[in-house]
Amino acid sequence: MSRHSIVLLPGDGVGPEVARAARLVLEAVATKFGHDFAFAEHRIGGIAIDQTGEPLPAETLDACVKSDAVFLGAVGGPKWDLAPKRPEQGLLAIRKSMGLFANLRPATVDDALIDRSPLKAEAVRGVDILIVRELTGGVYFGERTRTATTASDLCTYSVEEIERVARIGFEAARGRRGKLTSIDKANVLETSRLWRETVIRLHRDHYSDVTLDHGLVDSAAMKLITNPRDYDVIVTENMFGDILSDEASVFSGSIGLLGSASLGSSGPGLFEPIHGSAPDIAGQDKANPIGAIRSAAMLLRYGLKLKAEADAVEVAVAAAIVAGEFTGDLGGKLGTQATAGKIAARL
Ligand code: IPM
Ligand code: MG
Repeated sequence: MSRHSIVLLPGDGVGPEVARAARLVLEAVATKFGHDFAFAEHRIGGIAIDQTGEPLPAETLDACVKSDAVFLGAVGGPKWDLAPKRPEQGLLAIRKSMGLFANLRPATVDDALIDRSPLKAEAVRGVDILIVRELTGGVYFGERTRTATTASDLCTYSVEEIERVARIGFEAARGRRGKLTSIDKANVLETSRLWRETVIRLHRDHYSDVTLDHGLVDSAAMKLITNPRDYDVIVTENMFGDILSDEASVFSGSIGLLGSASLGSSGPGLFEPIHGSAPDIAGQDKANPIGAIRSAAMLLRYGLKLKAEADAVEVAVAAAIVAGEFTGDLGGKLGTQATAGKIAARL
């Protein structure tokens, strides 16, 4: 029995619905395993802009920093397209302020859903990739300039920033199939040359038991879609990871299936489904909650160090998928909350 405080940031669009679904499953975990989870909801994104003028209000950040783990639904929507402050700024600010430099994005394929994948079944059966994306550096956070006719975004990486995320990649590979692919653009970019040199040195000095290879991001994007089974763990910088993780999300058959974890060196992590706010289906109980529920499993595993509990959620999700208990994006008949209810009941 243990007590944990969890901040929920439902956000915009389908965010509140999938956050409710994740909470339902976490409450079922608490009951089954005898834990006490205290939930507190706070604002982020567009709803925070509407109500407070800020995409990440100070009280939200404060509550997150003091919590044991943070769950985020989704941010953004067309309503704020032309607004002076954008909902996405809230997400970038919380990542940076909480020091969440490592973003873990698993891309897996469930056998039962193999025919939903746009790729051939032979190519995607058994795919199990973990993308480790650097999340607080690079072009996302570099100095920006803008005049009427020119603009610039500076891309900077330090050895320390590269090392700490590369370590996460090596450690993850050790716990899996022992293979790490580092992706860069070292034939063109200086930051990528520093990235590659740093990863090679770390490998030589500390992780020579892991099989390391390197790819250039353009050809890696091609190989990833043609031979996804060749990959185990991928580590890459912020922008490349943003792009490659969306590419990898298509293997599973629905972007609604995948979760993610954003971790720092200490302090609470942030857990969110990789899908966006899907404003076209918001409020209709149609959103697939499985990505959110898998993020809740990652919250249990990495955030609260509750391994048996995380395993139990993943097993329940897999069983619900086999039983066809899911939403319309996968050809199922259930709504968001009913899907979550079935998974909770399996616990
Ligand atoms: C993601 C998203 C964000 C990013 C946006 C919403 C700022 O695309 O989490 O991948 O670019 O990091
Ligand atoms: Mg993205």
